Amino acid sequence: MPLYDNKRSALMIIDGKTSFDRHIFICTNQKEDKTRPCCNNGGGYEIYKSVKEYVKSKSIKNVKVTQAKCFSMCAEGPNMVVYPEQIWHHGVSTNDVSEIIEKYIKPLEK
Ligand code: FES
Repeated sequence: MPLYDNKRSALMIIDGKTSFDRHIFICTNQKEDKTRPCCNNGGGYEIYKSVKEYVKSKSIKNVKVTQAKCFSMCAEGPNMVVYPEQIWHHGVSTNDVSEIIEKYIKPLEK
């Protein structure tokens, strides 16, 4: 029995296989009160956009990059999580985009 079969689910599992080899969630949340910590204050959207644009520019179909709207770890942000490994990264910055691509996307490019 699939864990999820909701087509909007991050971990869409069909017959025991995910539809992506890797799925990267990057928090882009912006709180109305900009004095409160949130991932977008640290460049969450820029990080997301850069990683997403790389995947799109290379027409990579087996890696999905998705915006997340708060993991409730706002003070540690920007935050991202990589599936299927469930590897969390905190304090990500725009300077880390190249490393994210090298580590999580390039090895899966076909
Ligand atoms: S705003 Fe990103 S974890 Fe809350």
